[in-house]
Amino acid sequence: MTATTTTTPVVARTRDELRAARAALSGKEIAVVMTMGALHEGHATLIEQARAEADHVIVTIFLNPLQFGPKEDLSRYPRTFDSDLEICSRYGADLVFAPTPDVIYQDGDPGVRISAGPLGTLLEGHSRPGHFDGMLTVVAKLMHLSAGTRFYFGQKDAQQLLLIRRMVRDLDFPARVISVPTVREPDGLAMSSRNTYLTESDREVALSLSRALRAGAAAAPEGPSAIRRAARGVLVAEPLVLVDYLVLVHATTLRDVPEWYRGEALLAVAGKVGTTRLIDNLPVLVGPGGGALDVFSNPDDLGAAEPM
Ligand code: PAJ
Repeated sequence: MTATTTTTPVVARTRDELRAARAALSGKEIAVVMTMGALHEGHATLIEQARAEADHVIVTIFLNPLQFGPKEDLSRYPRTFDSDLEICSRYGADLVFAPTPDVIYQDGDPGVRISAGPLGTLLEGHSRPGHFDGMLTVVAKLMHLSAGTRFYFGQKDAQQLLLIRRMVRDLDFPARVISVPTVREPDGLAMSSRNTYLTESDREVALSLSRALRAGAAAAPEGPSAIRRAARGVLVAEPLVLVDYLVLVHATTLRDVPEWYRGEALLAVAGKVGTTRLIDNLPVLVGPGGGALDVFSNPDDLGAAEPM
């Protein structure tokens, strides 16, 4: 990847600093890329796309305690601020907002939160109760604080992306959400800040996740059960992945697609490799001429809210 611009971003740590730096940004389109730090090429791609499509780019770096469960990896999550800033600078961010938790949660844990609703209880939400409420709450706050117009999120976290789109639509946020395709290592492993936890042998094992997705996508012309069978076959052959779920679901309801289904669907997997929980997914077109897609063709069409 080639960097487009080199600027030194302003770093804001407090609400006042953010307000002042934000007020200095002119132009109509202000893009925001939210991150938890430990930036890699996936994040860089979001920043780069934002740079190309907006007048200014704000990157937020905030390790949000509200979206981590008590037994999750908040304390060991990598903190690499200097290199994060370097990447922000290289890819043309104008402003980096890097607050501490007391800046974001001024009065301690917020009593009022965004609820992810029924979609937040499936898949990742099933394994990580409360995760999506905590994630949406901080995304909502950062949307307000940054006063951005365009917000870039990775397809890597497909359910997160869907829930953010749902929040924006259901609660009428004046925000545009843009999906960015998953950035992978040359061998197929989806880039993730959590990949740094993997030992060399874990990393080999972890490749079976993306391999399973590719095998599934290759069977897309034959229909849902062929896709599931092909993907499962790869994972069954790698017993060192402790599979949490492997699903082929409707892109906006996250419900299993029936055997007769033809059209776009989400093939998603989660599993533990060593001590690390990893997720990956591929949007796929099911049916004749089908296969893997980068992102869904009409992601703003969320359909009717799910009856539950
Ligand atoms: P984080 O995991 O740091 O990811 C920040 C953004 O980068 C998310 O939109 C994520 O989907 C995207 N991203 C991560 N890996 C990617 C990859 N390999 N390819 C493309 N995009 C990738 O997701 C979060 O932080 C947090 O939940 C956050 C939205 C910041 C709220 O706290």
